Amino acid sequence: MRVRVKIRRFNPEQDRRPYWATYTVDAEPTDRVLDLLVQIKSYQDGTLTFRRSCAHGVCGSDAVVINGRNRLACKELVQDVGRSIQIEALRGLPVIKDLVVDMEPFFRQYRSILPFLINDEPAPYDERLQSPEARARYDDTTKCILCAACTTSCPSYWASSDYVGPAAIVQAHRFIFDDRDRGAQARLAILAEGTGVWRCHTIYNCTEACPRGIQVTQAIGEVKKAITTGEIR
Ligand code: SF4
Ligand code: FES
Repeated sequence: MRVRVKIRRFNPEQDRRPYWATYTVDAEPTDRVLDLLVQIKSYQDGTLTFRRSCAHGVCGSDAVVINGRNRLACKELVQDVGRSIQIEALRGLPVIKDLVVDMEPFFRQYRSILPFLINDEPAPYDERLQSPEARARYDDTTKCILCAACTTSCPSYWASSDYVGPAAIVQAHRFIFDDRDRGAQARLAILAEGTGVWRCHTIYNCTEACPRGIQVTQAIGEVKKAITTGEIR
């Protein structure tokens, strides 16, 4: 099938403003949008710039806006998006070139919530054991691949990039509800600040955007509740 691919392009070294370029490619219905980008770059325009690594929905590096929705290019099939496909860079982060955005502001917010296990108690001889039930408490938020699809779909983040954003809260949730961790109160204090969870207005864009199916809005709600009640178990 013939597919029309419209890509928002921008090279800050030579373009005064972004512009749309249109390409026509032959594709199978089961091709992925990433396959189309590779085909265009390989055979039509080697200057097209995009980011990808695993090509299997694991690394989170190829999140883009496809027909208006934040998606991983390697997970979207042509048969699901149609013969006319519009692709642009994630919104809310600076564009470096074409579909590549600067992820540093996103990772700065990620680092701010202390995304690592905190426990200064003496380590047991073997390991810090955890029951299956305790592990299940935060299972959903362990699936995050830090693709930024949630944060860059959030109108609150677009309005104010000092909001930590959904992804950072998902990552905080993963440690706050881990019963081996002792840093929950420090993270809750960070997220109770003006740049934290109260910037979330329960819009649900993040949940719709997440390629891992994480219940992002629910996780944010659980962190809000932990802040107001002090309960983390
Ligand atoms: Fe990506 Fe989902 Fe993690 Fe957000 S919560 S960064 S959308 S994997
Ligand atoms: Fe790794 Fe798509 S290239 S998630």
